[in-house]
Amino acid sequence: MHVLIINGSPRIKAHSNTDKIIDKFGEGLKEAGSTYEQYEVSDRKQWDAIRDAFAKAESILIAIPLYVENIPGLLIEFLETVPARQGDADIAYILQGGFAEGIQLRCGEEYLKILTKQLGCNYKGTLVKGDNFSIRFFEGKQRDKVTGPYKNMGVIFGKNGDFNSEECKKFTGPEIFPALTRLLIGTIFKTVAKKGFAQIAKGWDCTTPLDFRPY
Ligand SMILES: Cc1cc2nc3c(=O)[nH]c(=O)nc-3n(C[C@H](O)[C@H](O)[C@H](O)COP(=O)(O)O)c2cc1C
Repeated sequence: MHVLIINGSPRIKAHSNTDKIIDKFGEGLKEAGSTYEQYEVSDRKQWDAIRDAFAKAESILIAIPLYVENIPGLLIEFLETVPARQGDADIAYILQGGFAEGIQLRCGEEYLKILTKQLGCNYKGTLVKGDNFSIRFFEGKQRDKVTGPYKNMGVIFGKNGDFNSEECKKFTGPEIFPALTRLLIGTIFKTVAKKGFAQIAKGWDCTTPLDFRPY
């Protein structure tokens, strides 16, 4: 199988967590005997080439970071320029985010099912996972610890052509943290983290309170 992979992040390739995930996933794809080509939506100079590849591909995978609970605006802007297929292409998605709970990616996942119909493709599932904030700040073994598990997902996708197996569904991890953990995280955000963010904002000459609600 040959897979067209589109990185839907607005961040340039060098700084994109999604790119590092695709790297590992691609290793798995190759191990399963598949090949892939990769494009970046963040590079507008590639848009014509992506459109051409999209029109011809039999298997498409869009890898997407969650931006404000859903898919990035730049990716939507690009996809609005892509002519729909006629049910002659499969499409699957990797949907990844910073926060760890699976539940906050589910709205985006539902949206991708609707998007699939608009793109005239056959839906082959979404691989959902959070806890990826740190990838681009890590190197070597530390980065591998976060991205490594995506390699096995690449192997499975290379074999099955979809994310419908139980193993892919379990990959998400915790859907929601236990109440005590949520309480602890909430307290950290309201105290230590809030102070830290305020300090950073002060360094950027921001004078408006961070919890300012003008509307
Ligand atoms: C503007 C912005 C909004 C974000 N919104 C969310 C969010 O709603 N939920 C979440 O889990 N992560 C959110 N994140 C974190 C990213 O999804 C996460 O860091 C991801 O790995 C970034 O991938 P990228 O570097 O390829 O863009 C956001 C990041 C940015 C910059």
